Amino acid sequence: MEILILPTAAEVTQLTAHIVSRRLRATPDLVLGCATGRTMERLYAALVALHQTEHLSFAGCRTFNLDEYVGLSKSDPRSYHTYMVEHLFRYVNLKRTNTHLLNGTAPDLAAEARLYEAKIEACGGIDLELLGLGEVGHIGFNEPLSALRSRTRDKTLTPTTREQNAEMFGEELSEVPRRALTMGVGTILDAKEVLLVVTGEKKAGILASATEGPITAMISATALQLHPNCKVIVDEAAAAKLAGRDYYRWVFENEPEWQAYR
Ligand code: GLP
Repeated sequence: MEILILPTAAEVTQLTAHIVSRRLRATPDLVLGCATGRTMERLYAALVALHQTEHLSFAGCRTFNLDEYVGLSKSDPRSYHTYMVEHLFRYVNLKRTNTHLLNGTAPDLAAEARLYEAKIEACGGIDLELLGLGEVGHIGFNEPLSALRSRTRDKTLTPTTREQNAEMFGEELSEVPRRALTMGVGTILDAKEVLLVVTGEKKAGILASATEGPITAMISATALQLHPNCKVIVDEAAAAKLAGRDYYRWVFENEPEWQAYR
């Protein structure tokens, strides 16, 4: 794991967008794992800008989203399907047939989850997985006690997660679905490279637990400590409670890979 601390959320977005664009230019048929949430909105806006101004092409890119609410149809304005269309898909040259999201209205959720795993495998696995961090420490919707080897399946959302995401439901808690389909922790760990993007002081405590605390199923993001190629990209506000932040800065200053970003 490598923790990259940038001064502001805007710089976190720029660095993450540069890594994604570098990977996409090197591997035009990149299999990209997509996350949702407010943090990712800024990243998708930056990728759209790179598409428009620097001809970053998504023509061969394949995408797999992390999760979707159970019970919301793909055309529901609050679904992650709609989120992806509104923040990325409609602005770039991704082929819609190359975009994959879980179907939250599938009659058989277990079968839908199995099919999704098979589709990821048929594409050769995920090359680059984008992740945000939930306030309970989840990645995707892997809520506390998610098995560290879990695969795609449906999960019950914690009250904290439902409150965190209520904004997208007009702050109406009763409108937030109680369940979601999500890639498992094991599915995420199988990605070849992972970028965890975390900004803001509200996430400082959970980021410290996720990266420096013991590995535990209570905080699914701690499983990323096992991943051989995981970068955690954070702003100063989110980094405030990291015990090792001076060391992480030292590594960032000395790694040749980051020379252009310092
Ligand atoms: C939701 C998503 C997660 C995401 C989290 C962070 O819970 N299922 O994948 O990481 O939101 O959201 P935000 O960036 O809005 O804090």
